[in-house]
This record gives sequence, structure tokens and C-alpha cells, in this order.
Amino acid sequence: MIARLLGMVAILFLPSAVRGESPRERGDLAIRARAILKTHCSECHRPGGQSFDMLDHAALVGPHPIPFLNVKKSGRSQIIEFLKDGSMPPGGKPRPSAADIEALEAWIAAGAPAYPKNLDDATVATIVELDWRSRKPAENERYISFANRVEAGAIGLKDDESKLRAALQAATTEKRTVQLEPVDPAGIVYRLDAKKLGWLEPDFFHEIGLNRQPGSVVEFVAWDLLQIEYPFPAVDPARFQKLAPRRPFAPSQPVLRGDWLLEALAAGSPLAADLRAMAELADSKDGMALGPKLTTATWVTPSAKDVPPPLLAWYSGGRPGPFEVQFAVKDRTPPFTAKAGDKLPLIATADRTARAMLFSILPDSTVQPLTRMETILKRGEPFGFNPVSLTPPGAVTEWRERFVLLAAENDLPKFTLIRSSHQEDITVKDRAPIWRIVVNREGNPDLARITSQKLEVKVLK
Ligand code: HEC
Repeated sequence: MIARLLGMVAILFLPSAVRGESPRERGDLAIRARAILKTHCSECHRPGGQSFDMLDHAALVGPHPIPFLNVKKSGRSQIIEFLKDGSMPPGGKPRPSAADIEALEAWIAAGAPAYPKNLDDATVATIVELDWRSRKPAENERYISFANRVEAGAIGLKDDESKLRAALQAATTEKRTVQLEPVDPAGIVYRLDAKKLGWLEPDFFHEIGLNRQPGSVVEFVAWDLLQIEYPFPAVDPARFQKLAPRRPFAPSQPVLRGDWLLEALAAGSPLAADLRAMAELADSKDGMALGPKLTTATWVTPSAKDVPPPLLAWYSGGRPGPFEVQFAVKDRTPPFTAKAGDKLPLIATADRTARAMLFSILPDSTVQPLTRMETILKRGEPFGFNPVSLTPPGAVTEWRERFVLLAAENDLPKFTLIRSSHQEDITVKDRAPIWRIVVNREGNPDLARITSQKLEVKVLK
């Protein structure tokens, strides 16, 4: 298996001539060359098409009587000659611009660094696995892939790299410049030492029981916060079990999409603030760091064509599940508002009989279960929860109350509340511990069968 794997991508790891360009610059030459050749040539030069597959870098650089690529004299490469004399692409096909031809020449002159044939998850997994196997020990290594950006037409990743570095820097207490190492010749996948960012420190969360007392310490790290927000399926999880050992409360995955990460950690993002607060906690000797700033971000419910957020994502609205649940304030339509002192009548109606749990997220970010046990929603019958008292959290004139309803048709898995060990006194600078609702993954619960609905109420004094 590994031998086959090595054969498949060995070409990616050939030592390449060092010509002074940075890995990113060399990678961008490869990415741009791939894009030009894909646009203008691979319509014919594809697997099973004319003569050779243009996206198969090995075939392109392989020995030919007249080299397709001449790294010693890029102008004497057959593909450049054909482009310049007009024989390729043949017929009236749109031709690459002069700038494109120059870019191809620069790429060949730089030793024609390899690009991957495909930009799919399997390729990313292979790149990651090979790099991981070359690292000892590797448990702190995590990976960020821009394969999706390149597949979507990006012709270079220079800007993405600097944006990513800035985003990561804002999400850690690490003063030194965050090291992002491109691991494949095209620099589509980066390696990151998550430990250096303070993102792998365990034992900073407590389970919180119904009596609100902190219970046992649970292993939950900053990287897990990222993982439970991540909306895409894990890349080949079986392959990476050793690299990213099974996490009790989060999926195991060593690689995240860079395009997503850039959005998730964009300036001012509450998730970046959480990660930074976790790094602060890791730094603080007595475990009494302040938590992140209380977030004023509003839940965003994704439109149908977007990828739905994961079940327990914290900063996005409900997730459409396998069945319909209407969750609302009785006799009102969103956006919901209420007055301090009101008793808020929440109702839920499911299109089939289901079990449900209701949680409230208080303005200081504390999470409380509002149902002691699973509640049964009968098909089509509105269920009224015990009205919720709205008390102001201190001297404020306006605040927000949030509610999370989780429902499943048959067995609802056990949800656990966890809280970071940040200092709890929110009068200090308006910062509070991080809370999450998590589900234990050990029994392999089928999260796809659960619907989560979220609701926000603006309360005025
Ligand atoms: C419309 C189809 C078509 C497109 C588009 C096209 N080619 Fe070709 N190409 C051919 C055909 C057909 C041959 C094979 C000619 C032969 O075997 O005699 C060929 C042959 C070649 C060869 C020689 C291969 C060999 O085995 O000796 C090279 C190099 C080449 N093309 C480069 C390119 C490049 C570079 C592009 C894009 C800029 C391109 N081609 C776009 C149809 C195409």
C-alpha cells in the first residue's frame, strides 16, 4: 500500500534545483503553469486523449526524444516551441497570451517544479501522509490545504499565504512569525506546528453537570474548537488515526481547508478570539487567564446552497437535519424581540415524533440545559417549553438570549457541556470562559440524524 502510494507521488518529492526563488514563488510558478496548460491543452492532452496527459507532470518531464520541457534551455522545450510557432494548440483554439508563455518559460527555467495531477482529497491525503511519515515525532503537525482554491482557479497562493499567516498570528499568543511550510513542490499544502501556536494544550476544559459544578477535566484543545466548526467531511479519517488520534469530542482530522480557515479566522472573528484565549490559557502559569471577549456576533443561517454548518458549530445558525423542526417564540416571527422580565414562550413542532433537548446560552456565554430529560415532540403538535424568565445580566439596557434545540427521531446521543478553565468573573473586561455543547464520539453516534435549530432573542430593558 505504502509502496504504491510512494510510487504515485514520488515525483512530487524529487529534489528540485534551488534557483533562489522562495518555495512559495516556485510553487506559484507550478500552479500558474498547471492552470495555463489545463485551460489550453488538456482538452486534447487528457487521460486517454492525445499522446500524453498534460496534467501528468511525470509524463511531461519524462524522457522524450525531443524534450517537452528543457529545464536547461526553457526556450528549447517542445511545448514552448509549439506555442511560439503556433502549432499547439492546433486549429482555431484560443491561444495562451504572451504573458502566459512567459510564465511557462519562467516555470521551466525554475526546474519545472511539479504540480499535482488532481486536486482532490485523495491527493491532499497522500501529500499529508508522506510528509507526516517523514516527521518524527509528528503529533504536533497539522496541515492546511489550498487545493480547493487552486481547483477553483487561483493561479497563485502568495496572498493566501500572507493572509493565512496574519490570521494565525492573530489567533495565537506566539510572538515569533508563524511558520507555514509548504510540503509539496507546488505549495498547495502547508504544514503547521499546532503546538507552537498553543493549540494542543489538553486538560483545560471541565465537564459541567446539571448542578453547574465543574466535574471531571476533559481533553479538549483549541484545535478541537476549529474542528467542531469545520463544515467539510474529514479527509480520509481512517488513514490519519495515528497522526491525529481519535478525539473524544471532536472529529479527528489533521488537515483543514485553507479557504475555510481564512474565512473562519477573518479579522474580528469570535473563533480566532477563542483560539487566542486558549493559547493565553496555555501560557498562564496559574490557569487563571481571562476568556475571550463576549461575542456580539449574530448567528448566520447558511443559505441552502452553502455547506450546512456542523451540528455543534457555535457561530452559525441551525443546521437542516433529516427532518423538519420549527422552533420559534410562540405567536411571533423572527427576528424575535422581548422585554426584560418577560416569560419567553418557546415552542417546537416537528414533522415526525422526535426526542429533543433544549439549551440556553446566557449573555455571559454560560450554557444551561432547559430540559432536564429528553422531551418528546409529537408529530405535528406544537410543544410548549417551560417559559424562560428574561433577567438582565447586570446593568445593561439590551442583551441577547440564545437557544439551541437538538432533536433526533430515535435515540438522541448524550450531550455534554464543557467549559474552559478561564477566569469566570466577567466583570473583568467583559471576558468569559468558552463553553460548548459536545457529543461524545466514542460510541460513533450518527450526527447526521440530528437536527439543530437555533434561535436568538434581543431583549430590551
Ligand atoms: C485540439 C487538440 C489539441 C490541443 C488543444 C493541444 N494539442 Fe498538442 N497535440 C494534439 C495532437 C492531435 C497531437 C499529436 C500529434 C501527433 O501525434 O502527431 C499533439 C501533440 C503535441 C505534442 C507532441 C507530443 C508527442 O508525443 O510528441 C506536444 C508537445 C503538444 N502537443 C503540446 C501541446 C500544448 C503545450 C498544448 C496547449 C498549449 C497543446 N498541445 C494543445 C492536439 C492538441
